[in-house]
Amino acid sequence: MHSCLILLTLWSYFGDCTQPYFPRQVVFSSDGGLIVAIDEINQRAYQTLNYTSTEQHTSFVMQHFPYAVPDSPQSKYYVQLLLRTPPSLGCQYGTYWKYGEQNFNDFPVHWWVTESSFEIKNYINFHFGMIHSKNTSSIDEDYWYSNETCMLEDKEILPCEEIYFKKNTEIPLRSTVVVRYGMQVIQEITNYKIISIGKPDEKYFDLIPKNWSVVCQDANLGIIYNPEAVTIDSNRSSDIHISLTAPPHRINGNDTVRIRWKVTQCKTCFKWIPEQLYFNSKNFQTTQILTIIRIKNGPLAKMFPIFKGGGFDSISTDDYSIIIT
Ligand SMILES: *[C@@H]1O[C@H](CO)[C@@H](O)[C@H](O)[C@H]1NC(C)=O
Ligand SMILES: *[C@@H]1O[C@H](CO)[C@@H](O)[C@H](O)[C@H]1NC(C)=O
Ligand SMILES: *[C@@H]1O[C@H](CO)[C@@H](O)[C@H](O)[C@H]1NC(C)=O
Ligand SMILES: *[C@@H]1O[C@H](CO)[C@@H](O)[C@H](O)[C@H]1NC(C)=O
Ligand SMILES: *[C@@H]1O[C@H](CO)[C@@H](O)[C@H](O)[C@H]1NC(C)=O
Ligand SMILES: *[C@@H]1O[C@H](CO)[C@@H](O)[C@H](O)[C@H]1NC(C)=O
Repeated sequence: MHSCLILLTLWSYFGDCTQPYFPRQVVFSSDGGLIVAIDEINQRAYQTLNYTSTEQHTSFVMQHFPYAVPDSPQSKYYVQLLLRTPPSLGCQYGTYWKYGEQNFNDFPVHWWVTESSFEIKNYINFHFGMIHSKNTSSIDEDYWYSNETCMLEDKEILPCEEIYFKKNTEIPLRSTVVVRYGMQVIQEITNYKIISIGKPDEKYFDLIPKNWSVVCQDANLGIIYNPEAVTIDSNRSSDIHISLTAPPHRINGNDTVRIRWKVTQCKTCFKWIPEQLYFNSKNFQTTQILTIIRIKNGPLAKMFPIFKGGGFDSISTDDYSIIIT
């Protein structure tokens, strides 16, 4: 901690002394073209990443997400938005609230506390106590290592976690962690290049499209089937219990989604009752029964939902097929 005192007196413009943690407001790049902007104080973060050679992912997470529909859950809870490039790949968002179990997260896993709660914390989450090395042989770097060691595949023993800073600053240079991939145990090194310390430039957050709540898919919306697959003999029927994972959106005062179905193979093999189901923000968790009747034998078939209203129109129907054999 001695070096931190020097930092505070001589280099106070660097802000709080944060070693062995990241600065609370920071923009940095990392391996593979990852760029991250974190503003822990205002609870917002951005990152962009070349997901594949042709696909780029840009994500935002915020406590108060801009352009949310007033009074919607998105206006009250943390929201994460993922934009894919090229734009034809679509975009999606999720809300961290009691119906958020189907959510996704592109940011550090320790930020997603429980299914319904999210918090923008430090980029780094050490699992062990960290020790500041007294070794003064490095004049350029501060070195921290975990108080526990891990054994690699080749029996080499290393600290489980390490982090290096530019000497007497809060500028992280690289960190290491010992990870297991199946049978393999290796030390993974991540390099960092600080772009700025202090409140991140607004330009990162200005990339959020104003119409995201209308054009992007709500990852929280989905159907629960019980069972998801059925075997039905000829002239027999089977019941599927159906409910929704989250309340449909209220759009122009209407919070109802209508679900119809289509069968892809053997269109004349089945009929079902009722022809359509309606769910709204009050009854979405109450199961309704779809009865499927086989009138003719045939190959394996899939029933796909067709949605209308409630924000479900952009949901991928492929994810919610009923398999019938
Ligand atoms: C990521 O992709 C963009 C757009 O294709 C490209 O301009 C950029 O150089 C790539 N960055 C890295 C680190 O590969
Ligand atoms: C490492 O540090 C943690 C947190 O300070 C402590 O709980 C733990 O007992 C320490 N382990 C060893 C082996 O010293
Ligand atoms: C101190 O650091 C030097 C250079 O990084 C290293 O060779 C040496 O083993 C270290 N000594 C201790 C006691 O960690
Ligand atoms: C949403 O906004 C983007 C850019 O801001 C625009 O290109 C797109 O056409 C808009 N989509 C709709 C459906 O309004
Ligand atoms: C199913 O019912 C139809 C009409 O009642 C009958 O003609 C047919 O033989 C029945 N098929 C089987 C396999 O029971
Ligand atoms: C509300 O939306 C549902 C589903 O699109 C539709 O069937 C219904 O007619 C709508 N109700 C009103 C009052 O517009």
